[in-house]
Amino acid sequence: MSKGRVLSGMRPTGRLHLGHLFGALENWIRLQEEYDCFYFVADLHALTTDYADAKPIRDNTREMVLDMLAAGIDTSKATLFLQSRLHEHAELHLLLSMITPVPWLERNPTYKEQQQELTTKDLSTYGFLGYPVLMASDILLYKANHVPVGIDQVPHLELTREIARRFNHLYGEVFVVPEALLTEFPKVPGTDGRKMSKSYGNAVYLADSPEEITAKIRPMVTDPARVRRSDPGNPDVCPVFDLHKVFTPQAERDTIIDPGCRTAGIGCLDCKGVLLGHVLPALRPIYDRRKELATRPELVQEVLEEGAGSARKVAAETLAEAKAAMQI
Ligand code: TRP
Ligand code: SF4
Repeated sequence: MSKGRVLSGMRPTGRLHLGHLFGALENWIRLQEEYDCFYFVADLHALTTDYADAKPIRDNTREMVLDMLAAGIDTSKATLFLQSRLHEHAELHLLLSMITPVPWLERNPTYKEQQQELTTKDLSTYGFLGYPVLMASDILLYKANHVPVGIDQVPHLELTREIARRFNHLYGEVFVVPEALLTEFPKVPGTDGRKMSKSYGNAVYLADSPEEITAKIRPMVTDPARVRRSDPGNPDVCPVFDLHKVFTPQAERDTIIDPGCRTAGIGCLDCKGVLLGHVLPALRPIYDRRKELATRPELVQEVLEEGAGSARKVAAETLAEAKAAMQI
């Protein structure tokens, strides 16, 4: 028997990189073995910030779905769908908006932060304020028990819980109050040492070829104090070593890389060579699989079509219950 239901979504930002792989996807792939999992591409959420530049959303969705499948999301185990294909998300969003006090949304820390940070976009919209209500609708429609998210999403999830409780209090027990599933993720720095991010141009993508990966890792930033080959280095401050922690077996790190770096026994180029020796074979199967999947023009359509069908069975039923409870 299944241990319960898991739901999570990702906004269609385009090709996935190692930050996504280790920050979320690997966890999704693990969970699909044990739970009844619903995963989706949150294209409506993309519109909340990118409504004025919506053109890339469709292509980004396709790239993202290919990456998810190549990495190991298995549609015979998990349901993978596109948010906008299910009008149930939009409809429950409307119903939940009736009972969500505006101050709950205005005091959400992410709301204020993003409004201040994304200054090139006008985020004074109703839709952006309602971002967490849409997210509540995503989660509550599937009566998910567990929602794997990053720590940045926890305030949103707390709002989902409050909205669910308020609904259940007003109209009777319809919704499951979900729990955040926070997992420890390794730090995955980009090639410049900052957080890996598309907007920094420092990312290694799942779709990168072995040659592209090599060309990105070779010039990667290291311990800045290690200028000459003869200078000892400090792996604790080196982004290359952070990647070793993800890809290189601990024994090899402890006996070769760490002491070699501290004593200048190995140079940074050797060190990166060892890293590539682990990175390339680890990512190769994803790359090969992705290339194969990308040759099938109808694949993403078909996967999302089938996913929408399975998701709708659950979503439609919950929506009907919610409407009945609200007497409409
Ligand atoms: N807001 C999430 C993010 O930016 C994406 C998302 C939308 C989501 N709906 C969700 C995550 C429901 C979990 C559950 O990452
Ligand atoms: Fe970083 Fe490796 Fe160079 Fe040490 S030897 S500074 S861990 S790249």
